[in-house]
Amino acid sequence: MTADEPLRPVPRVEIHPDAETLAVTVAGALLGRIAEVQEAGNQVHIALTGGTIAELVHREIARHHSGAVPDVRPVDWTRVHVWWGDERFVAHDSPDRNARQAREAFLDEVGASQVHEVPAADQVDDAEAAASSYADTMHEHGSGEFDVLMLGLGPDGHVASLFPGHHALEVDDRIAVAVHDSPKPPADRVSLTFAALNRARSVWFLVSGDGKADAVARALAESGSVPGTTVAETPARGVLGREETIWFLDSAAASAL
Ligand code: 6PG
Repeated sequence: MTADEPLRPVPRVEIHPDAETLAVTVAGALLGRIAEVQEAGNQVHIALTGGTIAELVHREIARHHSGAVPDVRPVDWTRVHVWWGDERFVAHDSPDRNARQAREAFLDEVGASQVHEVPAADQVDDAEAAASSYADTMHEHGSGEFDVLMLGLGPDGHVASLFPGHHALEVDDRIAVAVHDSPKPPADRVSLTFAALNRARSVWFLVSGDGKADAVARALAESGSVPGTTVAETPARGVLGREETIWFLDSAAASAL
């Protein structure tokens, strides 16, 4: 975010009774937003996140596609560019891969064909090479301005693989960065940087469970009003959509607001 750009809208908070309701809402909102962009004749770029609530959202998207949930607005998944905010630097077929989880949950089912995975540990030499290759792919496919960027939130306030106090938080001259000492296993990862995340038009945080309540409170508190409200302490504070930021919470995750 640069000083001379227009102010970004403040985050909007939506609280849902439980994780299932949250996932149903987010899946419906995502499909609607994709349809809206496609109806306007534009390419769609979305960025997925790893994590448990994301998995529920992914499976709900597959339910829509199966016809179990009648959709009023069709989505052409062959024209949706799918990215990730971060990826674990492990073998391509590892169950730890965010991309593998998303393919199994819905991408294969819906026939997504513009899927841009971060290179895996059995495809390139190291996470630095994976980050560089992923950034090149993003450059090839446009401006990196995701129509919707979805992000989970860690109990420490991390988003993507940007963890509190990590030097990756300071990297502002690259789209993607290698992370080698992730406090959340696996240790080796690739993450989009704040510079890349903040190019998104819409940022949707997906957060469920009382284990995240304190992180949510720190992320949404007035700066300096409570301890832990610097970006270095709560990296989620460093991401705002250019046009929209929504925090989709269940009541447990919202319990410290
Ligand atoms: C990852 C994720 C990470 C995740 C949060 C929340 O690759 O691990 O991208 O940022 O979204 O840690 O994960 P949970 O929803 O499983 O708590």
